[in-house]
Amino acid sequence: MKRRDLMKSSAITGAGLFLTNSIVSNANSGTSSNSSQGEGCTILTKKRTLGSGKAALTVPALYLGCMGMQSGRGIVPNEKSMEKLIQQAYDRGCNFFDTAEGYSAGKNEELLGRAIATMRDKVLISTKFTVDLTKNPPLNDNRPERIKAACEASLRRLKTDYIDLYHQHRIDRSVPIEDVAGAVSDLIKEGKVRYFGLSEVGAETIRRAHKVHPVTTVQSEYHLMFRKPETEVFSTLQELGIGFTAYSPVNRGFLAGSLTEYSDMNTNDIRGIWPPFTPEALRANTRILQVVIEFGKTRGMTPAQVSMAWMMHKYPFIVPLFGTTKLSHLEEDLRTADFSLSQDEIEELEKKVSEFAVTGERYDALQQSRVEY
Ligand SMILES: NC(=O)c1ccc[n+]([C@@H]2O[C@H](COP(=O)([O-])OP(=O)(O)OC[C@H]3O[C@@H](n4cnc5c(N)ncnc54)[C@H](OP(=O)(O)O)[C@@H]3O)[C@@H](O)[C@H]2O)c1
Repeated sequence: MKRRDLMKSSAITGAGLFLTNSIVSNANSGTSSNSSQGEGCTILTKKRTLGSGKAALTVPALYLGCMGMQSGRGIVPNEKSMEKLIQQAYDRGCNFFDTAEGYSAGKNEELLGRAIATMRDKVLISTKFTVDLTKNPPLNDNRPERIKAACEASLRRLKTDYIDLYHQHRIDRSVPIEDVAGAVSDLIKEGKVRYFGLSEVGAETIRRAHKVHPVTTVQSEYHLMFRKPETEVFSTLQELGIGFTAYSPVNRGFLAGSLTEYSDMNTNDIRGIWPPFTPEALRANTRILQVVIEFGKTRGMTPAQVSMAWMMHKYPFIVPLFGTTKLSHLEEDLRTADFSLSQDEIEELEKKVSEFAVTGERYDALQQSRVEY
């Protein structure tokens, strides 16, 4: 039986996959694969639950973001190859994909919609509303009527009649969060959305939104070089039973070792204008990367795997949201679930990393003004 047929015949959220290890080789499992790699490809079976009670959503332990397949990360591969990569992720047990209305002016939702068209009911779609990145500065309109219109447009682009996880992308300080949560709650009642998420918000906003409609997850930046959510947000999430999806878990490539001070980030690459990605900052922060590389060497882990395993084993409510345009990196990143780190190892890594201060605030002034911490 082909891998995609196997996925089709299993429930999305249940134990679905029949393999016992988090990642196993098809060649070893006795199953066949329809992926381009054929026998021997990796399969992610480990799951996590985001949120609690009626807001609980069980998902693969790692999830794939589609933004960088078309924007913000340099060279843009052709769309067909990215549709194929999404399908290859699915074939490998990763059936949870993130996009946003604002990515490539809706084209990223269209890409995802095309890639999953034949397996919609076996896939979890995560998207985000009301940031229009084509405007300068980006427009952010969270009025309930705008959210509802945005949802209809996203459904059309995604070629589906429901969104599994619908996030507010950025706060709109002119609209109370209660109104935003109310609009999403209406969409959930209408069956157009299943679960509610937020992005880059602080504890107070999370509490207020959660009172109106239970929040399943908060999607925000988090990695070894940016740990601010630990101070206030994580305790709130734990108290309220909300999950966390960590975007840019390898700091946009840096913690995977794919960027140096010589990297060209001038074309179609949002990183080039941000402080941690100047040549000076990249040079200084290489000491941190070196720690991560050394830590991984004795454990057979790549720096990307160290970076994501660290957060997965530190907190049970986190799901890393990584991005890639390459099958080899997809497989490497999904294999993170094969490793575990003890509390002692986590502390050892944090201690070594903290010996070097991070050079460069994460965002420029405009981006920083749009987030709550
Ligand atoms: N809510 C928000 O405001 C927000 C903001 C930003 C992002 N996001 C979401 O988060 C997703 C991921 O963000 P991100 O792209 O910044 O994540 P990331 O995984 O930290 O960085 C992706 C970059 O790392 C490289 N990379 C990944 N794995 C690698 C590996 N094993 N070895 C070497 N390089 C590797 C990729 O290059 P290759 O293509 O060469 O693999 C890509 O350039 C986005 O697609 C989007 O869905 C959300």
